[in-house]
Amino acid sequence: MGSVKSAGVSFLVLSFLLYVADSYPNIDLSNMGCVECTLRKNELFSRDRPIYQCSGCCFSKAFPTPLSTMKTMTIPKNITSEASCCVARHSYETEVGGARVRNHTDCHCSTCYFHKI
Ligand SMILES: *[C@@H]1O[C@H](CO)[C@@H](O)[C@H](O)[C@H]1NC(C)=O
Ligand SMILES: *[C@@H]1O[C@H](CO)[C@@H](O)[C@H](O)[C@H]1NC(C)=O
Repeated sequence: MGSVKSAGVSFLVLSFLLYVADSYPNIDLSNMGCVECTLRKNELFSRDRPIYQCSGCCFSKAFPTPLSTMKTMTIPKNITSEASCCVARHSYETEVGGARVRNHTDCHCSTCYFHKI
């Protein structure tokens, strides 16, 4: 009786693993390991005064490319992914050691489009 039960359990575990493996390609991996969209200090340019830049992730979703969009694409892709990108709302150009860099002062999630697969 005990072995029947554990066989049932391992079947459940196995089908769960299969389910996970099956759904894996649908998971948007670009969102993984991402942190909230926020201002971050840019260590490279922060010498005497700190330089801030936006980085992080917002949401993203994937959907079939609309036919009208497909025709305008040089390389048609079946799946379009729409994501909102972490971009600077406000920034100004400043100079650090002769290089012009943008110091971001405010970040937000704004729509951007890219295609994949
Ligand atoms: C898009 O999907 C259709 C069917 O779903 C398939 O026939 C076609 O080859 C696919 N095109 C690309 C570029 O993947
Ligand atoms: C960049 O902006 C921050 C405040 O947003 C400011 O404290 C810093 O001094 C600025 N850095 C430069 C190089 O202007």
